[in-house]
Amino acid sequence: MLVAGARPNFMKIAPVQKALDRAGHRSVLVHTGQHYDDKMSDSFFRDLDIRAPEHHLGVGSASHAVQTARIMEAFEPVLLATKPDWVLVPGDVNSTIACALVAVKLKERTGTRLAHLEAGLRSSDWRMPEEVNRVLTDRCSDLLLIPSWDALPNLEREGIERDRIAFVGNVMIDTLLDRLPAARERAIAAQMGLATGEFVVATLHRPSNVDDPAALEVCLRGLGAIAQDRPVVLTLHPRTAKQVEGFGLGKLLQPLCITEPLGYMEMLSLVDAAAVVVTDSGGVQEETTALGVPCVTLREQTERPVTLTEGTNRLAPWPLTAEGIRNTYVAALAQGRVGVGAKSPEGWDGCAAERAVEALAKASP
Ligand code: UD1
Repeated sequence: MLVAGARPNFMKIAPVQKALDRAGHRSVLVHTGQHYDDKMSDSFFRDLDIRAPEHHLGVGSASHAVQTARIMEAFEPVLLATKPDWVLVPGDVNSTIACALVAVKLKERTGTRLAHLEAGLRSSDWRMPEEVNRVLTDRCSDLLLIPSWDALPNLEREGIERDRIAFVGNVMIDTLLDRLPAARERAIAAQMGLATGEFVVATLHRPSNVDDPAALEVCLRGLGAIAQDRPVVLTLHPRTAKQVEGFGLGKLLQPLCITEPLGYMEMLSLVDAAAVVVTDSGGVQEETTALGVPCVTLREQTERPVTLTEGTNRLAPWPLTAEGIRNTYVAALAQGRVGVGAKSPEGWDGCAAERAVEALAKASP
């Protein structure tokens, strides 16, 4: 049973569903409905050829407690009726921890084991909802599938036995490498009148950057400063759009080129052609490293340090200032684009989902 709920889950689940099919295993997909807009969810099913979910829980947006609780209530009967050998939860969103908790508590009754895809990432920032979700999901899991070797010491430090951990690499990069040729054909940058390597793509949605007016203002002023040098395309997450309006910061969007959330293929096409990407997303830090595009991350730290040590990522100085963001952009621009795969860590090779399926089979009784 594969679980997906929010936008960053879909590109991780897609290659696993296909690899399970190829190996002759049966799988069912549960969509929790945490994300529900066409742009945040349905378009990913089309772009990534994911089968329609067998179960749609339709929970939608709410506070953390209500959203997590609704997912748990709706997931429990599905799990009890299906009793799969495995539940596989990806990433670190509320859907991940909600379904993990249900699965681990029903284990005695269902015999179902729990696997966490993208295990072992740590920001060590307990204020982030995603960090809470990651740590607790790992603690509940029978099998921890890690995307990079830097995850291993994090898990060992928490006392997780080595035989529960399997290195599989980065499944999200399976999807990226599979879709890149078709994404390039879409030539979204050219359609927007932008030349390859001559513009910046930005994304912003972390609560720490967008839920506080002063922090959001700094981020937008930083992007405005970059826009004096090159066009900046900001794809606006629904959370950020709401906050910009609520805080009366709309005028700071004026120097930027604003789009709605882009579909997977459009975003990949655009990021692949960018000079630099500025982001607070976890997934985009990994995608830019795989594409060899320089990335500036607007966070105090990253749970994906391999993108700093081996990849193309760098952190803007903390606490963020508009000047610090712009200076880090200048350094990233000087670093330049290095091409697909030139700086990819081990296991970011398009075969991670195969290894995940092998690990599941090996850990099965
Ligand atoms: C969630 C994840 C985050 C991930 C991000 C990617 C958690 C704790 N956070 O944050 O890790 O990086 O998704 O997008 O799970 N909304 C819409 N349409 C949608 C979905 C959401 O308009 O399809 C609006 C809702 O009104 C909501 C807001 O966006 O208030 C935030 O959605 P939510 O699911 O709470 O968290 P994200 O900020 O998207």
